This record gives sequence, structure tokens and C-alpha cells, in this order.
Amino acid sequence: MSQTTVLCMASYFKGEAFMRQAKLEGAKVFLLTEEKLAHEKWPRESLDEVFLMPDMTKVQDLIHAISYLFRANKIDQIIALDEYDVENVATLREHLRLPGMGQSHTRYFRDKLAMRMRASANGIRVPNFTSVFNYDTIRDYMGKTPAPWVLKPRTEASTMGIKKINNSEELWRWFDQLGDQQSSFLLEQFIPGDVFHVDSLVWDGKIVFSSSQKYGKPPLSIYHDGGIFTTQTLDPKSKDALALKAINAAMVKSQGMERGVTHAEFIKGHVDGEMYFLEVAARVGGANISDLIEQATGVNPWAEWARLEIATIRGETYKVKKSFQKYGGLINTLAKQEHPDMSSYNDPEVVWKSDKKDHAGLIVVSDTIERTNELMDSYVERFSNDFLAVATPKESAH
Ligand SMILES: Nc1ncnc2c1ncn2[C@@H]1O[C@H](COP(=O)(O)OP(=O)(O)O)[C@@H](O)[C@H]1O
Ligand SMILES: [Mg+2]
Repeated sequence: MSQTTVLCMASYFKGEAFMRQAKLEGAKVFLLTEEKLAHEKWPRESLDEVFLMPDMTKVQDLIHAISYLFRANKIDQIIALDEYDVENVATLREHLRLPGMGQSHTRYFRDKLAMRMRASANGIRVPNFTSVFNYDTIRDYMGKTPAPWVLKPRTEASTMGIKKINNSEELWRWFDQLGDQQSSFLLEQFIPGDVFHVDSLVWDGKIVFSSSQKYGKPPLSIYHDGGIFTTQTLDPKSKDALALKAINAAMVKSQGMERGVTHAEFIKGHVDGEMYFLEVAARVGGANISDLIEQATGVNPWAEWARLEIATIRGETYKVKKSFQKYGGLINTLAKQEHPDMSSYNDPEVVWKSDKKDHAGLIVVSDTIERTNELMDSYVERFSNDFLAVATPKESAH
């Protein structure tokens, strides 16, 4: 068999476990990243070559560079390691006629309006929403759907640019401010509730592994009011976990993913107790969620994703690694210290600590949910005394 070649694209430093596993599978592994990330700790021993570009948002430059690379290297697949690379990879796949999700299909995992329209057409419960292309449509929506609403960018991530809107006057004022950007937003009902995420591996349209966790405070309230980010593994037999499993499976089917990895979010409404589909991405969950899942289940989503992609290229079957069920908790905050001292967080359940500048973060894991809850409750309180800093929100990640 000829050598398998994968090109990983990353405009953010992440995905080391993917690249390592791809190498272990015997593939030739290329990385394309930005010049400003050249110094990061990429797993160089697993990389056959690293290519640098000054600006990975310039898709025409990417098409030229990668087509040039292709002349002497038969690339079997291109993988987007970061959310912001997904669209460009889809464009490159279309240009080079590679298999996998192309531009239209990628929209169901990138564009919040496209993903909502598809999911709701397939009967998945979503917050009432509308496009904001047309004034009559917007007025009609506001007449039928009580405020508050959220006005959100269709393709941003990490809660950036989301605005909570209390009445129509506020909405029109935002539109004045947004100008030509207006059509890149959507409007939907604000559903007060708890926010969950489900991270899955998909093979032949079926979910072969998933792990469900609940965020402490909803990401939007942390973004606006500050506070400590936490997320914790659910008991897979709990009512919430079972409800999530059902809606997640229906959603993955609706969006038509055949093989790959997903990170999906859902809100459980405080008013009606129902699960609403919030968003899905064709990538591994960020912010150390993959580390949490690995600690809680033994499955590293990055590494499994690599195995799955390489099996696909080679026409082999893929079987997910055997998992176990423990209960993990992840806690993370912007710290007021540059190198916060976490040495007093030394319970035996602490399995990972962040070494990121200006951040404090750790992961605990235990065989029982009670112990994880107990540790997380006490650590959240201690983190807010020891480290918590408040930063001003950004409008865009890149
Ligand atoms: N319809 C909604 N109702 C209530 N909260 C919402 C709604 N949409 C988004 N949020 C809040 O904003 C956060 C980010 O929204 P999300 O759609 O997940 O976008 P992002 O891609 O930026 O994560 C959510 O985690 C949740 O806290
Ligand atoms: Mg989100």
C-alpha cells in the first residue's frame, strides 16, 4: 500500500495528540501553521514537515501553497485542527477533490444559522430563531417570539460577539452599529437554563463513543459577569445524560456526519426542563475538554480522531478504544498572577494542572460522582479567593 499522507492545518496551537497518533499509525504527517506559532511546542518528532504561512485566513494563498505542495506529495486528506480552519479546509478539499465534508456540508457544523435550519427541519428542538436578512421577517419574528433574544454571529466561537437583547429598540440600535455585518448574525430566543456539552466520535453515521458533561455557570454569564469556568462529567444513567444522548444522536444524524468527531452543546430550559440544541462543531472540544474526557474515560478524542481518519483513508474498519467510566471535573480561570502557585491543590484526585501563563486550571478525577462534586465545590471557592481575575471581553478570537 502506498504511504498515507495527512496534512494538518492549525491556526491555533492544538491537536498534538492527533499528530502523534497519526504518526504512530504509520502516516506521513505534515503540519501547516502560522509563522507566529512556529515557536510553539508542536510534536516535531511526529511531523515529517512543518510549513508556515504568514496569514492562514487568506484562502487563495492556501490554495496556491497546498496545490504546490501536492505536486510532489500525494496528500490523502487535510484535517482542520481548529474551528477557524474548518472552512478553509473544506475549500481546499473541494479544490483538490478530496473526500470528506466539502463547503456546503461544513456549513451545518460552522454556520449557526445553517445548522439551526437543518436541525429544526429534521425535528430537533432548537430555540426559536430567525435569519436577520429582511426587515419584515425580523418584525414578524419579534411579534411572535417574546424577548429576551440573543443576537449572535453565525461563525464565531467562544461566546464572542453574542449580545443579549431585551427589546426591539435595542435590536434596531445594534443593526445600525453592525452595518454590513448584519447578515452575518442570527437572532434567537434566550433560553435561561443549564448548558451541557457532548463530545462524540462518529463512524458510519453512528455514534461509537460519547461523553456528556455539564458546565458550571453557562459560558455566556462567565463571559459577561466573570467567574470560574467549570465542567463536570455526568452520571451516564442520569436523566440529563439520557436526554442528551438521545438529542445528540438525532442531531448528528440530522447534520449528516458520516465519520469524524463532534463537540455539541445543549441548553436545558429552566422553564420547561427540555433539552435544546445549541450548536455543533466538527472538531474536538477546546479549553482542555479533551484532557478531561481522557481522564474520565480513557479515550483521547484527538488520538481516536486520528485513528478514525486514517482508517477511512485506508479503507479499513475502525473500532473505538475500550473506555471506562470515571467522573472528571475541569476548572479554569484567568489568574491575577502570571504563574499562579497551585501547589496546595494536592488531593490525590488532581491529575492535571495548567501551565498556561496568567491562568489557573486543573482536572480532578474520581471513581465516584460524589467525591468529584465535593472537590469541585471546594476548589471553585478556593480558586476565586486565590486566583480569579477579571478581563474585558474580546469581539473576535483572531
Ligand atoms: N438561545 C440561547 N439562550 C440562552 N443562552 C444562550 C443561547 N445561545 C447562546 N447562549 C449562551 O451563549 C453561550 C455561547 O453560545 P454558543 O451558541 O454556544 O456559541 P459559541 O460558538 O460562541 O460557543 C452558550 O454557552 C450559552 O451560555
Ligand atoms: Mg458554545
